[in-house]
Amino acid sequence: MDRYDFCRALARDAGKLAHRGFGTSVTTMKGRHDVVTAMDREVERFIRGAITKAYPKDAVIGEEEGGGAGDNLWLIDPIDGTANYARGLPRYCVSIGYLERGVPTIGAIYDPSLDWLYAAARGEGAWRDGVRLAVSALAEMSAATVECGWSTRRSTSDYVGLVGRVMNAGAAMRRAGSGALGLADVASGAHEAYAELHINAWDCAAGIVLVREAGGFCNDFFAGEGLRAGNPLIATNAALCDKLAAVIGIPTS
Ligand code: IPD
Ligand code: CA
Ligand code: CA
Repeated sequence: MDRYDFCRALARDAGKLAHRGFGTSVTTMKGRHDVVTAMDREVERFIRGAITKAYPKDAVIGEEEGGGAGDNLWLIDPIDGTANYARGLPRYCVSIGYLERGVPTIGAIYDPSLDWLYAAARGEGAWRDGVRLAVSALAEMSAATVECGWSTRRSTSDYVGLVGRVMNAGAAMRRAGSGALGLADVASGAHEAYAELHINAWDCAAGIVLVREAGGFCNDFFAGEGLRAGNPLIATNAALCDKLAAVIGIPTS
């Protein structure tokens, strides 16, 4: 099995495990509005164990246990959208990305609530369960929807500023609580863009591959300290890319 097949199968298996604790897993707080459940940790251990067994020389960085970089690097978010998951709201996923020498190369995002597996590998397109994905062709700001991700890692006024710029430009704004699924929605054309002033590498590594392979654009998220400390993120369809990059204030590459 190559890494792409392995990644897809692993995301699905991990998601099946996660779904056993949907809405019931024991919850604790890591910080203000930063929830973790027992299942976040269990799923990360499961994914790490599988990678270490199949690819013992590969490096792994996960949200819950950290880790170090390497030429063959896996980035794991065992449950993305934990606040939804913990409350029994069916919008969460498992996200597994793979970087080869720093280049986002493979991504798989599994949504257990819908039993949808999103997957992409560099040069091989973006897919959801056998259906090829393409970003939205919409070019009118007055019909566009932009998801603005939020966390307490940036100030309320900075977030309100972002939302204000997006809405003043004529777009609709949404926030649905999973950055990885927000990127999958850009790849599938369900909305036109995803933006967040700070997001971590495990949230977006898989989704960046999906968006690019679906014909969309992202910024160079892994530039500078992106891998270690996170960065701003923009992901858009092609038609609104220049306009949205100017409105949001994050240049695409
Ligand atoms: C969070 C979600 C959220 C995004 C945050 C992430 P978590 O991840 O993806 O939508 O806005 O930046 O931290 O805590 O649910 O894994
Ligand atoms: Ca996350
Ligand atoms: Ca998480």
